[in-house]
Amino acid sequence: MKNTVSTFQKMKENGEKISMLTAYDYSTAKLFDEAGIHSILVGDSLGMVMLGYDTTIPVTVEDMIHHGAAVVRGAKNALVVVDMPFMSYQTSVYDAVVNAGRIMKETEATAVKLEGGKDVCPHIEAIVKASIPVVAHIGLTPQSVNAFGGFKVQGKSEEAAKKLLEDALAVEAAGAFAVVLECVPAKLAKLISEKLRIPAIGIGAGADCDGQVLVYQDMLNMYGDFVPKFVKQFGNAGPVMKEAVQEYVKAVGEGTFPEEQHTFAINDDIIEKLY
Ligand code: KIV
Ligand code: NA
Repeated sequence: MKNTVSTFQKMKENGEKISMLTAYDYSTAKLFDEAGIHSILVGDSLGMVMLGYDTTIPVTVEDMIHHGAAVVRGAKNALVVVDMPFMSYQTSVYDAVVNAGRIMKETEATAVKLEGGKDVCPHIEAIVKASIPVVAHIGLTPQSVNAFGGFKVQGKSEEAAKKLLEDALAVEAAGAFAVVLECVPAKLAKLISEKLRIPAIGIGAGADCDGQVLVYQDMLNMYGDFVPKFVKQFGNAGPVMKEAVQEYVKAVGEGTFPEEQHTFAINDDIIEKLY
């Protein structure tokens, strides 16, 4: 059954945990959907894990649409959320609505996600007014990496914790139907989850959130040597893929692939005449 914003709300009310993973292409989305994931996030993390940038800053609306549309084609049941990239909404409420609209029309996703608390509430409100569901994202917001001075845990001081709670309540009031909490101390994330009527989806925010999200290359061990503290590797796809490719290279080199069963036949006399 297709998951919708109502599914998210019902799951929160019933205390059922929401599982979300990123995906950026058709075949991966199809696999995750078949595995029963509730929601797929086409994160702007694609700039790093798919395109090889150091940050999410260079990602464009076109990038998000290109990958978002592919994911939507692969996701039958999962609710697909597409990230709004850096500078596609910060510039004005008008730009936010125009770009959210483009993403929705050109990907046919169910929702968009954008980073920020109180500062982006007018943007969230306007997008929601245009009938586009919005997921908010607070805590460590990677598009602000240059303003933060690096990727670090947010909300540790009393002042920062209070601001994070206020931001969570503000984005809910602005109409967001869910909020991502990234790199937030677990007890603060628990408090925020309890205070909110909408589901809080955590990444590096402890087990008491209403759901969890991870970047799939992190949880399948496919992305480099650095593993963030909050990541658990549920699978070992990176080494499995590498080993398969090594075997392929070897088999091609030795001429042991392809074998008879991988080849197409033709009548011998046709070939003899051509010699
Ligand atoms: O871009 C992304 O993958 C995200 C998640 C880490 C929440 O925003
Ligand atoms: Na993101």
